[in-house]
Order: sequence, then C-alpha cells, then structure tokens
Amino acid sequence: MLGNFSYCNPTKLYFGEGSVKHLADELKKYGDNVVLIYGGGSIKKNGIYDDVVRILSDAGKNVAEIEGVMPNPTMKKVYAGIEIARKHQADLLLAVGGGSVCDYAKTVSVSVNCREDPWEKYFMRFEEPDCETLPVGCVLTMVGTGSEMNAGAVITNTDRKLKIGKEFKDEKIMPRFSILDPKYTLTLPEYQMVAGIYDIFNHICEQYFSGSDDNTSDYISEGLMRSVITSGRAAAIDPQDYEARSNLMWTATWALNTLIDRGKTTDWMVHMLGHAAAAVTNATHGMTLAAVSLPYYRRIMPYGLQKFVRFAVNVWGIDASGKTDGQVAAEGLEAMENWMKEIGAVMHLADLGVSDDMIDDIVSGTLIMKGGYKVLDTDEIRSIIEESM
Ligand code: NZQ
Ligand code: ZN
Repeated sequence: MLGNFSYCNPTKLYFGEGSVKHLADELKKYGDNVVLIYGGGSIKKNGIYDDVVRILSDAGKNVAEIEGVMPNPTMKKVYAGIEIARKHQADLLLAVGGGSVCDYAKTVSVSVNCREDPWEKYFMRFEEPDCETLPVGCVLTMVGTGSEMNAGAVITNTDRKLKIGKEFKDEKIMPRFSILDPKYTLTLPEYQMVAGIYDIFNHICEQYFSGSDDNTSDYISEGLMRSVITSGRAAAIDPQDYEARSNLMWTATWALNTLIDRGKTTDWMVHMLGHAAAAVTNATHGMTLAAVSLPYYRRIMPYGLQKFVRFAVNVWGIDASGKTDGQVAAEGLEAMENWMKEIGAVMHLADLGVSDDMIDDIVSGTLIMKGGYKVLDTDEIRSIIEESM
C-alpha cells in the first residue's frame, strides 16, 4: 500500500430487522425542528412512513415535510427544499428513502446557510462548504448507492443537461446516523433491486481498477465482490430472500463508505458515462452503469491487464492454467457479463431510452477522470457510447 491517507467515518449504523426503533435514541441528540424528506410515495404504501412519523411524534418533534424527491434529484427541487428547511429552522434533516433522498438531504444541508448558488459552488466549481451545515440522518429503503455512509451527493441540472456528483471532504456531511433494515427493502420493484445490485458491484470495480501496488483495499474489494455476486444471484432467484437482501445491504454500505478507496487513485469513468446518459434520459442509475460497463472495461483492459487477470482469477474463479493473460482477463469479463445478464441488468443504452441523436450530449456531458488505467479522449468516449447502444 503506497498511498498516505487519513481515515474517519463518523456515521453510526443500526442494522437489522426492527432497527428503526433506534431512531428514538438518535432524535434526542437534536433540536425540536425536524425536516422529514422522502420520495414519490413508496414509504406511504409500505408503512415505513407510519413507523417513522410515530417515532417523531412520540419524541415531540415539530416536523415539516419535503416530499416528492425524485430519482436523480434535480437542482430545482433542491432550491425548493432549501426554502422549506430555512423557514422551518431545521435542526435535523431526516432522509427516508434511497440514494436520491439521502443525496438530496446532504445537498440541502450544505446549501441552507450558503450565500452563493449551491449548483455553481458545489457541482461546477467543486468547492467545499464554508458555512454552517445541518446534520442529516437516514432511514434507508433502497440498497446500492452507499449514500447512507458517505459524503457524496449527485444532483441533476435538467436545464444544463448535466448530472454531477460531488464528494464532500468534510465527514460532517456524512449522515450522522443511518438505519438499515433489510426488511424495508423487500418492497422494492425488482428492476430497482437489480439496478442497486449492479451499482454496488460497479462501485467496487471503480475503486479496484486502479493502481498496481499490493493494496489491502483490493483484497477487501475482492471479498465484497464475491459477496455481491453470490447474494445478487440468490436475490434474483428469490427477491424475498432476507439473508441475500441483508448481505446486499451491508455490502453496499462498505462498497462506498470510503474504506476501499484508501491508498487508491480510483477510476470512476463508468459512473461518468452513466451520469451523462442519465442526464439526457433520466434512466435508473445502476442500469446506466450496466449498459456502458463492458464496452468500457474491454477497452481499458490492455492498459491494466494484470489487474484484470487478478479480477478473473480471484473474483470469478477463472482457471488460468495454460492460457495467456489476455485470455484469462477476457474470460473474467465474460463471466461478469453472464452474471449481469443472469440477474437481469440492462445491457444496452438503447433499452434505457438513449437514441442516436442524444450521443453528442452524452459525449459532451461526460467528465473525464484521470485515476484509472487509461485516460480516455473524446473519440474513445464516443466509441464506448456507440458500442453500448
Ligand atoms: O420515490 P419513491 O416512491 O420512494 O420510489 C423509489 C424510487 O422510485 C423506489 N423505492 C425506494 N425504496 C423503496 C422503493 N420502492 C418500494 N419500496 C422501497 N422500499 O426506488 C426508486 C429509486 O430510488 P432512488 O433513491 O432513486 O435509488 P438509488 O438508491 O439507486 O439512488 C439513485 C441516486 O443516487 C445517486 C445516483 O446517481 C442517483 O441520483 N448516487 C449516489 C451516490 C453517493 N451518494 O455516493 C453514488 C452512486 O454512484 C450514485 O451516483
Ligand atoms: Zn453508483
């Protein structure tokens, strides 16, 4: 491990069936004014809203609500939320939902006392907050993003046709606590479950496919990937399999809570391509990643061949004997492709609503990252998008 780093993750987790009861203890740490933030209504249908509201009411909290936070939350919705949080003089932002709701809450948190335009400051200039931020708590209902234990937020600006992620450096932006009840995820539509499974897997790939030193992070990543593969298969066969769903929930958290990127440059190009595709289609996050992944990895494989060989052998169990490195690496990606199809991931951008006339916007909306095995140029990005169609 050759990098230098610090490590601190202050998010307190409560995991397991019924763990929402711990919300009562957490609420004691904050003032009376809570803003409850949720999505398009799933929590009202499956009873999670009632669970949370009962606890807030027993705690005597004064609650305002921000409802209707959409998947791929927009900046317009953020501006509206900032007003509500200001008016309510919020002491705590309580996100009940998936990554979209949690990211949204973090963005409101850093914006309530910000004197500049938050889109320009955080998502265009990638600056850090220099104002007081509000604490965020999370009750997670959808598994995949890791937003429950990180300081990331991804926001879409529909006018600008841009979807941009910002990872805040200050641990204060991470949720102060997150409640992870796997049972809460059992009502997810299968499409969302599968999107989440591939999102987890790809988060690990994005961190794994970088660097050439012997790094503990890579060994942890291989274990996490094997767990996602096993539990993903089991959940695809039986989405009500609690054991599989609970493993997926815990793995998702560890896949993107800053642990496995320690000492790594990290890649994140699949996410940049996926975000650009989502900015013009509003497609589901994990599926945009699935559609671009194989054309991307096949293109960069020669530049990081040894890591792709290791991936094939240690993650997919490919027998390397008598084969060239190129063959082993290719077999690893083939095994990954078969697994993605087996769990029901979307393998083509065209199936997510991308048409040929959108390709220019996707290419220009793709940020180029420099931490992976190959720094892409615009022509390569265009080819990858075309091959992903
Ligand atoms: O809005 P409701 O009605 O609640 O429905 C949601 C939504 O339609 C539904 N859902 C969630 N929990 C449910 C449920 N339906 C039934 N039962 C439940 N228990 O699922 C749909 C998707 O929810 P969403 O929050 O959008 O999904 P996800 O958790 O995948 O979040 C996606 C967003 O997170 C960003 C993505 O780019 C995207 O904007 N990401 C955030 C990251 C981070 N903070 O570190 C990293 C990721 O790579 C990702 O970019
Ligand atoms: Zn992701």
